[in-house]
Amino acid sequence: MGTMPPFQLLGARGPVLGLIHGFPLDATLWDEQRALTSHLRLLTFDLPGFGAHRAATPATDLAAFAEHVRAVLDAAGVERVILGGLSMGGYIAFECWRRFPQRIEALLLCDTRAEADGDEARANRARGLAAMREGRRTELLEGMFDKLLAPQSRAAGRPAAATRAMMHRASDAAISAALAALRDRADATPTLATITVPTLIVCGEEDALTPPPIARAMHEAIRGSELALVADAGHLAPLEQPLAFNAAVARWLATHHLAR
Ligand code: MLT
Repeated sequence: MGTMPPFQLLGARGPVLGLIHGFPLDATLWDEQRALTSHLRLLTFDLPGFGAHRAATPATDLAAFAEHVRAVLDAAGVERVILGGLSMGGYIAFECWRRFPQRIEALLLCDTRAEADGDEARANRARGLAAMREGRRTELLEGMFDKLLAPQSRAAGRPAAATRAMMHRASDAAISAALAALRDRADATPTLATITVPTLIVCGEEDALTPPPIARAMHEAIRGSELALVADAGHLAPLEQPLAFNAAVARWLATHHLAR
């Protein structure tokens, strides 16, 4: 607290698209979205304990993550943002909407879900926390890696290497704290009906963690939302199929006059 959180703000003019990364990843998840800076400015940042911000004290609940996002907006001088998040980043975006909706101009929900963890997911978090306590971090991360990417992206060089690099940069403390925060998060389903801003939901057709039926359910629950399914992508659609992902986002921004 007190110190300015690190961030990158790219692009010369236009509205700001702020993007929150997933778990256990970092801001480089969004490297391919730099192409969108012909339409707007792009704000990316590492959550505390992840990426280049790995020495920071990790957030232990969604409220702390959302307050980190608010601190980044303040530090970057951004009053209103088109707020996007992937998976855990989406859970955090819902919490931001609950806390400071007046600062959110539109929502971009990528490969995420509204529901809280069920029994099976909670048991999985407990297994993850045990692995971290017992020094089996690599085993835990490799198990996650297998579920993040579509098979064809796992075979491709760049998405696989970028994903592994992000996972390996996360601090032990951040991984453990996030596992507990994700396990204990509240159900965001009641939040969906409160969303009144333009919303785009994007999901990889081969997302094994938050598959298309989950995206369709959110689409039905958020009034006026749009849904884009991305072919040949798993859970990390913006990294796996950046051209298709960026095209869907650019189309949506143009429809709602959100870009210049
Ligand atoms: C993520 O990509 O952020 C994770 O899949 C979120 C989760 O484990 O619930």
